[in-house]
Amino acid sequence: MSEQVLGRKIMQTGQAATGRSFRADGRTAIVTGAGQGLGRAFALALAAEGATIIVAELNEDRGRAVVKEINDAGARAHFVKTDVACAEACRNMADTTLRKTGRIDILINNAGIFSTLEMRPFEEIPDAEWDQVLRVNVTGAFLCSKAVVGAMKGAGWGRIVHLASGAVTLGRPNYLHYIASKSALAGMAKSMARELGGFGITVNAMLPGATFTEIERKTVSPEQKTVIVGSQCIKRPEAPEDLIGAMLFLCSEHSEFVTGQQVNVDGGATHL
Ligand SMILES: NC(=O)c1ccc[n+]([C@@H]2O[C@H](COP(=O)([O-])OP(=O)(O)OC[C@H]3O[C@@H](n4cnc5c(N)ncnc54)[C@H](O)[C@@H]3O)[C@@H](O)[C@H]2O)c1
Repeated sequence: MSEQVLGRKIMQTGQAATGRSFRADGRTAIVTGAGQGLGRAFALALAAEGATIIVAELNEDRGRAVVKEINDAGARAHFVKTDVACAEACRNMADTTLRKTGRIDILINNAGIFSTLEMRPFEEIPDAEWDQVLRVNVTGAFLCSKAVVGAMKGAGWGRIVHLASGAVTLGRPNYLHYIASKSALAGMAKSMARELGGFGITVNAMLPGATFTEIERKTVSPEQKTVIVGSQCIKRPEAPEDLIGAMLFLCSEHSEFVTGQQVNVDGGATHL
């Protein structure tokens, strides 16, 4: 296509000549752990782009509050109480989504044990806590992906995004179970992308930097926050809104040829 024809088509349709859109009208997006923090931000942003949102969250009060927020704004959302660490709950999440909306286009594996973590040397991490973090953060993403992949394969289209972390590239100390879990997710994105590329399904990992949400947490002290901001090319604290553009891209038609990638969104703190 010549540049002139391409330019005319863009102006006529308001859309790229590829016919692809950043909008998510008519699509259904499951966002796990969307009751607060980043998951809530992703849910609100995808709802604003036209998707019906399934808030798949363990905390019922918080999950329902986000659904109300979306519905009150005139968009569509449903709550499905989900413990991502439980296979039956993940299957119920997928079945309920299909019953309510007839499709599953997007899965954001965002739920994780994160803001409640205590920082400590790895030899002091209780074995049971290690098991729980791996169970929720890694097995949870596996179980949710497994539960939705049939519907995506049937439709010949899907977007799966795992929330890994920029901490993986830095190897931040004192939460080894968390780092192990997020490293696993980055690896899983590559391998799942290989298995699903032939079905029109992309799988990517997003690696946020330290992102300051409405939730207090112990994993970054005020002193560490100053060091983190100083390490970035863009010297201000990262906010949930900073992740939205990349997330919408990864969930959109425009990311069709982007799969198995680790997408760093951290103000330039790290370079892969
Ligand atoms: N905020 C950051 O700086 C940052 C940076 C890198 C990666 N991440 C990752 O992004 C994701 C969201 O981060 P956040 O800051 O919003 O975390 P958060 O701890 O504030 O929120 C986690 C959410 O997951 C839910 N959840 C926990 N266990 C669950 C389970 N078993 N089943 C279903 N839901 C469950 C919680 O109820 C909560 O709503 C996490 O996976 C986190 O590891 C966060």
